[in-house]
Amino acid sequence: MDFTLSEDQLMIRESAREFTQKILKPGVIERDSNQAYPTEEVRQMADLGFMGIMVDPAYGGSGMDALSYVVIMEELSKIDNSCSVIVSAHNSLACWGIEEYGSEEIKQRYLPKLTSGEMIGAFCLSEPEAGSDATSQRTTAEDKGDYYLVNGTKNWITNGKTAGLYVVIAQTNPELGHKGINALVIEADAEGVSTGAKEDKLGIRSSDTSSVMFQDVKVPKANRLGPDGFGFKYAMKTLDGGRIGIAAQALGIAAGAYELALAYSHERKAFGKEINRHQAIAFKLADMAMNIEAARMLVYRAAWLKDQGRDYAQAAAMAKLFASEVAMKHTVEAVQVHGGYGFVKEYHVERLMRDAKITQIYEGTSEIQRMVISRNVIKGSTYIDLS
Ligand code: CAA
Repeated sequence: MDFTLSEDQLMIRESAREFTQKILKPGVIERDSNQAYPTEEVRQMADLGFMGIMVDPAYGGSGMDALSYVVIMEELSKIDNSCSVIVSAHNSLACWGIEEYGSEEIKQRYLPKLTSGEMIGAFCLSEPEAGSDATSQRTTAEDKGDYYLVNGTKNWITNGKTAGLYVVIAQTNPELGHKGINALVIEADAEGVSTGAKEDKLGIRSSDTSSVMFQDVKVPKANRLGPDGFGFKYAMKTLDGGRIGIAAQALGIAAGAYELALAYSHERKAFGKEINRHQAIAFKLADMAMNIEAARMLVYRAAWLKDQGRDYAQAAAMAKLFASEVAMKHTVEAVQVHGGYGFVKEYHVERLMRDAKITQIYEGTSEIQRMVISRNVIKGSTYIDLS
C-alpha cells in the first residue's frame, strides 16, 4: 500500500481547494441559513468534472480513480457539505451503478447528461418503513410484460427535488424476499412521479432532501439495472461505494474543523499566552490530529482497495464508521476550542458540527456499519491484510 498522492491527484486537490475557497466559502453561511440550493455552484462543479468523477471519459466522465474521488470529497467537505453530499450521492449512488450495471443503451442515454451536470442523479432506497431494514421494501414494481408499473413512496432522498433521474429500488416478487427486488432508472418527468416538500434539516441545509412518490409509473424493462431480482444486491453494492464517499465527507468535516480550531488557537490569548500553550487545548488538538490521520488512512485504504478491484465492503464500513465518529467528536471539540465564538455562524465550526451528525446516519447508520463489520468478523474474516 502506498497512499502517496500522484502529481495528478495533487493537482486535483489543489483545484478543489481553490474552488472551495474562492467559490464555495463566500456564500456558504447564507446558503445554509436560507436553505438555498447551490445551483450555480453545482454548475461550476460540473465544469470541473466533479459530476462524473469516476465515469469513463467515453461517457463524458473524468475517468478518475476512487482515491481522487475521496481527495475531492475531503476538500469540498471542509467547507460546504451540502455541495459535497450532492456530489457524493450523484457520483456514488447514481452514476456508479448505471455505469456498472446499465446496458450500453442506458449508459449512452444517461451518463453524458449526468456527467455534464445537465441531469442530477438520486438514489431511492429508504422508505417510511424501510430505513436500516432495507429488505422491507413496500414500493412495488409490478411486472407487466414489457414494462414495470411502479407504486410507492421513498423518503429522505438526497437531490430529491432537483434530480432529473432516480435509481429506484422496488419489490417485484414479494414471495422471493430480497431476491424479488429490482433497481430501475426512472426519469423525474415521467408521468406519475412527484416530490414532497424540501426537508428543514439540522445540517447540510442547502442540499435538497425530500420524499419522492411514484404513482402508476410505467418504466420500460430496458431501464432495469442488472438481472431480474438483483435489485437488493445492487443497492448493497452501491452503498459500499457510497460509504467511501460519506467517509471522505466525514473526514473533510473533521479536518476542516481541526484546521479552524488550530488557527484560532494561535490567535486567541488567555491567561497571558496563546490558548494552545495551555495543555487543556493542546491535548484536544493532539487527539484531533491523531484521529483525523487514522480516519484518513481508513478512508484512503477503502478507496485503494476499490481501485485495486478488491473487496471493499468491510473497509468502506470501517472507514465510514470511524470517520463519522471522529467528525462528530472533534467538531464538538472544535466549537469548544473557539469558546463563545464557536457558537456563532461567522466562525464556521458550528455548521460543521451540525453537518457532522448526518454522517453517522445516512448511507447506513453507525449501528448498521457495526452490523456489517461484526458479521464479517464473526464469519472469520481477520481483515488484517497488509499486502
Ligand atoms: N454486497 C453484495 N451483496 C450483499 C452485500 C454487499 N455489500 N451485503 C449483503 N449482500 C447480500 C447477502 O449476501 C444476501 O444475499 P444471499 O441471500 O444471496 O446470500 C443478501 O444481500 C441479503 O443480505 P443480508 O441477509 O445480510 O440482509 P439483511 O436484511 O440482514 O440486511 C444490511 C443487511 C447490511 C443491514 C442492509 O439492510 C443495510 O445495509 N441496511 C442499511 C441501508 C442503508 O444504508 N440505507 C441508506 C439509505 S441510502 C442514503 O442514505 C442515501 C442518501 O440519499 C444520502
